[in-house]
Amino acid sequence: MALVQTLIDRDQIHLEPALPPRLRELYDGNLHYGSAPAERPFVLANFVSTLDGVVSFEVSGQAGGSTISGSDPADHFIMGLLRASADAIIVGARTVQAVTSESLWIPENIYPDAKDLYSDYRLNVLHKPEYPLLVVVTASGRLEMERAIFRTPSVPTVVVTTSAGMGVLANAGATQLPSVQIHMLDAKAGVISPSEILRLLQSRLGVRRLLHEGGPTLFGQFLAAEAVDELFLTLSPKIAGRSAEAFRPGLVQGVEFNPDATPRFQLLSVKQRAEYLYLRYQRM
Ligand SMILES: NC(=O)c1ccc[n+]([C@@H]2O[C@H](COP(=O)([O-])OP(=O)(O)OC[C@H]3O[C@@H](n4cnc5c(N)ncnc54)[C@H](OP(=O)(O)O)[C@@H]3O)[C@@H](O)[C@H]2O)c1
Repeated sequence: MALVQTLIDRDQIHLEPALPPRLRELYDGNLHYGSAPAERPFVLANFVSTLDGVVSFEVSGQAGGSTISGSDPADHFIMGLLRASADAIIVGARTVQAVTSESLWIPENIYPDAKDLYSDYRLNVLHKPEYPLLVVVTASGRLEMERAIFRTPSVPTVVVTTSAGMGVLANAGATQLPSVQIHMLDAKAGVISPSEILRLLQSRLGVRRLLHEGGPTLFGQFLAAEAVDELFLTLSPKIAGRSAEAFRPGLVQGVEFNPDATPRFQLLSVKQRAEYLYLRYQRM
């Protein structure tokens, strides 16, 4: 039985291998991606937001996307499916801090019921390695090295950082960890440019399809750099509200666009389960 119902599907791309039948049934349709531009990987992003556009309650222990979605199973299934499709997943350091130390950015970690389906799709249809690479971006290098993402030999992690961050990470023992690679890039005022990160991922690590899992600060930079091709956005039927005292981020933070220069998106598909909507947009 399907986990979601497809209301609109304008996906006209038929170049990539299709989903195996059981995944197609659960997703109520197929999933194809466009090809990567020559100069960088294809970048798809995945977020869940409340009806009023909040992506984190910013409450200790409840700052993650699962609180926004109420651990909605279809949202988790789609997130797992996108992870299974990607060569690498990129996140900012604050998004790492918002989840438990056992969290891994692998398909079955978010939706265990489809573990075998994701694995079959990944290995036998897409011919990708067992797990996507996790890419963590940090200028400061202040990461908690006891986290599972740095201690699980089968799950490779790349840290992209500055020269100052490299020193901090080396002092914390990160350079000694077998499943962790650290790459140092130039930064302006502590910001490494998305195009430099994408160049590194494409040329040194062979990434052709990158899943951007936030947070809003890192995502805003990629949007501003015109380095987002698609957005998968789950709309959770909740309103979080905001106040001057309690900061609650929207989908994008730290970047603003002029009214006549906003990034525009074309609707590719709409899926629904109960009160939830699962939207897929393509950058115009
Ligand atoms: N609802 C959802 O779908 C969703 C998805 C993702 C995240 N979230 C939530 O969003 C919140 C985190 O988002 P956020 O915007 O505050 O943070 P973020 O984007 O996850 O991370 C920001 C941090 O990443 C590093 N960073 C980002 N861009 C960089 C660059 N260009 N160069 C060097 N370092 C860079 C810096 O780390 P250093 O400070 O270490 O230098 C920066 O402080 C969390 O509450 C998380 O749960 C929600």
